[in-house]
Amino acid sequence: DTRDPTSLRTPIVAVLGHVDHGKTSLLDKIRGSAVIEGEAGAITQHIGATAVPLDIISSIAGDLVDPDDFDLPGLLFIDTPGHHSFTTLRSRGGALADIAILVVDVNDGFQPQTLEALEILKRSQTPFIVAANKIDTVPGWNATEDAPITETYESQSDRVRSRLDESLYEIIGNLSDEDLSADLYWRVQNFQRNVGVVPVSAMTGEGVPDLLTVMMGLSQRYMKEEMEIDVAGPGVGTVLEVKEEKGFGTTIDTVLYDGTIQDDDTLVVGGQNDPIVTDVRALLQPRPLAEIRTESRFEKVESVSAATGIKVAAPDLADAMAGAPVRVVRDRPLEEVVDEVEAE
Ligand code: GTP
Ligand code: MG
Repeated sequence: DTRDPTSLRTPIVAVLGHVDHGKTSLLDKIRGSAVIEGEAGAITQHIGATAVPLDIISSIAGDLVDPDDFDLPGLLFIDTPGHHSFTTLRSRGGALADIAILVVDVNDGFQPQTLEALEILKRSQTPFIVAANKIDTVPGWNATEDAPITETYESQSDRVRSRLDESLYEIIGNLSDEDLSADLYWRVQNFQRNVGVVPVSAMTGEGVPDLLTVMMGLSQRYMKEEMEIDVAGPGVGTVLEVKEEKGFGTTIDTVLYDGTIQDDDTLVVGGQNDPIVTDVRALLQPRPLAEIRTESRFEKVESVSAATGIKVAAPDLADAMAGAPVRVVRDRPLEEVVDEVEAE
């Protein structure tokens, strides 16, 4: 294979789990911003995408991640809502993902939407790890902010440690009830055969270095070939949300998972009736590390490459649908692309 390593795209990571188990908080911790505070009713109602470049991952993970060991450019996280009424958004997030994090509250254990998320992951055969979240709530917990789990585990009393172990083994048992062989992540040799469980706290940041290291390692080890794309090729993506944007009219928040979109491209977008054929008016990029749905000041860019979240402004998008395919036409016959979008 003589392809340039820059043609490796960012793996797409869906964050799934039951309501209030800490999905947004976990991403928030990783982003180091306060998206959660702006969330109406603290419920995530819409999918958002967050790009975290490798150098940021490496600075959070410290000694655990040496950027020289990786050639994937980072991770693109998609937050999903845990509330029971948002099944479609969860499925959409799950279907888009190359890899996933299933967040489980250590106190609350497996709940209905935990099981629903597991079904989505099984159905789409998406490899995933379990983040056993809120370990800081174990009574008597002695927190070391942002520490790797092995370090913080050592500094707990025997009683606290066995309380945590109990909760973790219950989660491992729940996974085994679903015919999944699971273990604490540091005991897992083959992440394709076994589900790794990573104890974390979105509040204190403990275990977050481990979580990012495992996700990065898993992607590098098992996804690398799937991440090899023709970066310069015509873009392919999925609409996450259709939104009115002041000064731009109807826009589509899109996750691009293959190729490139340029600001002079013609697009075919899945519509409520027929596919929509339209010309890009502007590509609006949220700042790095910003969440696409809360970022109000966009930067206009000439072109973006997969994988990324991008807001596309174009005429005639009123009938565009969340979940619909987006395809760049470029040098191909329009009819062919329209047929592809119709078939999806
Ligand atoms: P939905 O989007 O509604 O499905 O919820 P979510 O999974 O995104 O949960 P969210 O991040 O909004 O967190 C729910 C509540 O749990 C908030 O009050 C958080 O502050 C709290 N929380 C999340 N993670 C932790 C944690 O690690 N420790 C503690 N103590 N609280 C946490
Ligand atoms: Mg949330």
